[in-house]
Amino acid sequence: MAFVDQAKQPKGRSLLSVRGLCKSYGGLKAVKSVSLEIRPGEVVALVGDNGAGKSSFIKMLSGVMMPDEGSMRMKGAEIKLTSPADARNFGIETLHQHLGLVDVFNVQENIFLGRELQTKRFGIFPVLDRAKMRSQTADLLERIGLQLPEVESPVRAMSGGQRQSIAIARLLLNDVKLLIMDEPMAALGVDEGRKVLELIDSLREKGLSVLIISHNLEHVFTIADRIAVMKNGNLVDVVDTKAVDHDQVVSMIVSGRPVNAPTH
Ligand SMILES: Nc1ncnc2c1ncn2[C@@H]1O[C@H](COP(=O)(O)OP(=O)(O)OP(=O)(O)O)[C@@H](O)[C@H]1O
Ligand SMILES: [Mg+2]
Repeated sequence: MAFVDQAKQPKGRSLLSVRGLCKSYGGLKAVKSVSLEIRPGEVVALVGDNGAGKSSFIKMLSGVMMPDEGSMRMKGAEIKLTSPADARNFGIETLHQHLGLVDVFNVQENIFLGRELQTKRFGIFPVLDRAKMRSQTADLLERIGLQLPEVESPVRAMSGGQRQSIAIARLLLNDVKLLIMDEPMAALGVDEGRKVLELIDSLREKGLSVLIISHNLEHVFTIADRIAVMKNGNLVDVVDTKAVDHDQVVSMIVSGRPVNAPTH
């Protein structure tokens, strides 16, 4: 698929559009009327201090929690997400910090976990279709440009970054349009984190949209097309990455006030 050039996109074209999302926990307003557009083929980073409301916000986009108020539209059509399965049906997948891999299984077993392909031996007895799962896994890894040295070994033997990539690949078996990631690189070393950034970049080139929460501004500046800043449950601003520098983003995170940068 062709690279989606942000500058050439018609204004207003959006994949997911959320308006006025609110969420309270008892008396605590964790998300206060946050609106955000996510366009096809862009990476949006969501940043903010601890407790700013980032995870609460994305949980509403991934169907984990229902908003108290607000609306969401996918390609213009209103959607209501009551579960992660609902979100999945609309092409929204979320990578949680707990990756959900089974250590003793190999790559293809993890990718097909819970949705194993079957065939019939002698036309009667249902058995796992290992050959088909192996070839589909190879196709999938190639499609997303992921090279793993040992696909037949248990994933226990793999590095943090490789495991992360397998967890991402697993989500991409479905027809994903928006991939949401909550702090995906937090537990990874420098090289490992860089590989996951490369994977995200290649997904964008294939037209996927990514919403990524990160505290690492270096990563944010490397990968994001736009940066959304939250503080105390409010959306401070959404800025083009190219229009701001590191200090300006820090200033927005800390002060909760927008900087004078062109926004979209
Ligand atoms: N399940 C919950 N019940 C009650 N309060 C919650 C719950 N989850 C989050 N909160 C509160 O809501 C506010 C926002 O939390 P949230 O986890 O969304 O922040 P965050 O921006 O993701 O922070 P961090 O960067 O630390 O992950 C915080 O004050 C937090 O204590
Ligand atoms: Mg969080």
